[in-house]
Amino acid sequence: MSTEYVEKMLKDIQVKNIENGDVEVINNSPLEMIGKGRQGAVFRYSDEICIKVYGNKEDCEREHYAMYLGQKSNSFPLLYAAGDNYIVMETIKGVDLREYLQSQPLTEQLSYKLIELLITFKKVGFDRIDHHKRQIYIQRDGNLKVIDVGRTVWRNRVYPYPRKLLNSLGKENKAKFYTT
Ligand SMILES: Nc1ncnc2c1ncn2[C@@H]1O[C@H](COP(=O)(O)OP(=O)(O)O)[C@@H](O)[C@H]1O
Ligand SMILES: [Mg+2]
Repeated sequence: MSTEYVEKMLKDIQVKNIENGDVEVINNSPLEMIGKGRQGAVFRYSDEICIKVYGNKEDCEREHYAMYLGQKSNSFPLLYAAGDNYIVMETIKGVDLREYLQSQPLTEQLSYKLIELLITFKKVGFDRIDHHKRQIYIQRDGNLKVIDVGRTVWRNRVYPYPRKLLNSLGKENKAKFYTT
């Protein structure tokens, strides 16, 4: 991974934070944008590698730290390189849990995987033991991988229960999850 080459391409990408909205992106690079959110925009580097470019350094530093913690487990994208405003990481494939649950039931097995995932968050040292289903991807082998981990660390409050995950599962699934 040549960060020199990456940084050269990133000179032609501008990402700006917008209050209460997704980042604004001006992309004059050859890289295709594959998604964006409140903190950054993600570009396809190759089939297996993507680059997340942040609107500000602090968000980048925080997600970099969370991903660094996550490297102990196989539930997070592999971390390849990082700079002031970007992180080069593994592209996560598979179907996200929001899409998956639109056509598939929440099984006992999947509920267990979600609980295991929350335990992984705790084990690697995250502060927020919670994640939205949209950012959780089901792999071919049934294992789960998560993206967008920036907000899991350096929180100045405690999170007594996984509110985001539970609410995102929906009422019926929430009940099923509780009985597992
Ligand atoms: N490692 C990844 N592999 C595949 N797609 C990704 C990856 N990281 C981000 N994306 C895509 O880019 C979108 C925005 O990234 P995200 O990390 O959620 O940004 P933000 O922190 O701004 O919310 C995601 O919804 C997803 O579609
Ligand atoms: Mg996001």
